[in-house]
Amino acid sequence: MSTDIHRGLAGVVVDTTAISTVISETNSLTYGGYPVQDLAASRTWEEVAYLLWHGDLPDAGQLADFRAAERAQRGLDRAGAELLARLPATCHPMDVLRTAVSYLGAQDPTEDDADPAANYAKSLSLFAKLPTVVALDVRRRRGLDPLQPDPALSYAENFFHLCFGAVPPADVVRAFEITMILYAEHSFNASTFTARVITSTLSDLYSAVTGAIGALKGPLHGGANEAVMDMLAEIDDPARAEQWLDRALAEKRRIMGFGHRVYKNGDSRVPIMQAALDQLVSAHGDARIRRTADLYGRLQRAMLARKGIHPNLDYPSALAYHLMGFDTPAFTPIFVMSRITGWTAHVTEQLHANVLIRPLGAYTGPRQRPVPAGA
Ligand code: CMC
Repeated sequence: MSTDIHRGLAGVVVDTTAISTVISETNSLTYGGYPVQDLAASRTWEEVAYLLWHGDLPDAGQLADFRAAERAQRGLDRAGAELLARLPATCHPMDVLRTAVSYLGAQDPTEDDADPAANYAKSLSLFAKLPTVVALDVRRRRGLDPLQPDPALSYAENFFHLCFGAVPPADVVRAFEITMILYAEHSFNASTFTARVITSTLSDLYSAVTGAIGALKGPLHGGANEAVMDMLAEIDDPARAEQWLDRALAEKRRIMGFGHRVYKNGDSRVPIMQAALDQLVSAHGDARIRRTADLYGRLQRAMLARKGIHPNLDYPSALAYHLMGFDTPAFTPIFVMSRITGWTAHVTEQLHANVLIRPLGAYTGPRQRPVPAGA
């Protein structure tokens, strides 16, 4: 048996997938073969979600049905809302989301875990309900009562309505949709792999999503978008950016929002998100936002100069969410609202040709030894 060890599974190909890939020659991420930057430039979030689940973009009738199904399932029942309202306000919003998915799983009596049609129905239901859950928690942390979903609004418009009781200008809604499209899927990343591991034991979709939320929470993965904003708040003064970075690097700190396991010459999703952010700052940025954007640019240039490391998607997304008015702890839950599509597409793909995922470890503990006599 081979004793090669691939720590962190770096460079290891564990299975095939038809959902997405990164084409290294063009440095572009594709969903079902379509470059994500082209999808972000011309398609709605609902169309891209449909693509990830169905392998192709919807025609007009399919899109209308999909939208209607999503709008019809946004509500969270009263018991669920009361359960979430009782969670301590000190817990992280990702804990609330994880609990919500667990609750929804417990409420679903079906035992058709291997049926693709049933899993699609569960995926769509979670997709529709997660914004309601995230917004409920955003509002309770601000001491506000929850609002009801509005079926006359698109997915993105409804989320703003649920959080703030108002829908912002169209360019802000569109920038939010772009973050959703870019965050939706990224092959065998840590949280998706977690979902596939759980699915490979023939567990259920809710368990896979609950586990994936736990994996995404960490700052080396989805938690980085929150950590970016905390870091920008910590540095605060644009004039301090370089000095702060030098010190942080000397202390061997990880600079949040930079670096990527797959992309070593720049994250393919960053240019389109950066363009959306630039547009937001110029159209809607007040003096405070422009100051933060200045700090953001200085830190990015210094990181490239010092370490040759480029930003990942979490870097521009964080400032975009901040500018849109979301509180920093809501950033990673918003990432979940998007990535639920990729996770659940992978659950179905894993089940289609399932094999138990069960790697080995190279043992380094004590040699076999006799158990001493008890006292
Ligand atoms: N800050 C400082 N140094 C870094 C960073 C960073 N953000 N990223 C990589 N490096 C250095 C690292 O110290 C190492 O240097 P050396 O060889 O001198 O020890 C070298 O680059 C390689 O790092 P690595 O940890 O072996 O690379 P990796 O592929 O395992 O790491 C990563 C990928 C994402 C964990 C890492 O880049 C990181 O910690 N980034 C900060 C957290 C972050 O932004 N995460 C979001 C990832 S992308 C979107 C998502 O999944 O949500």
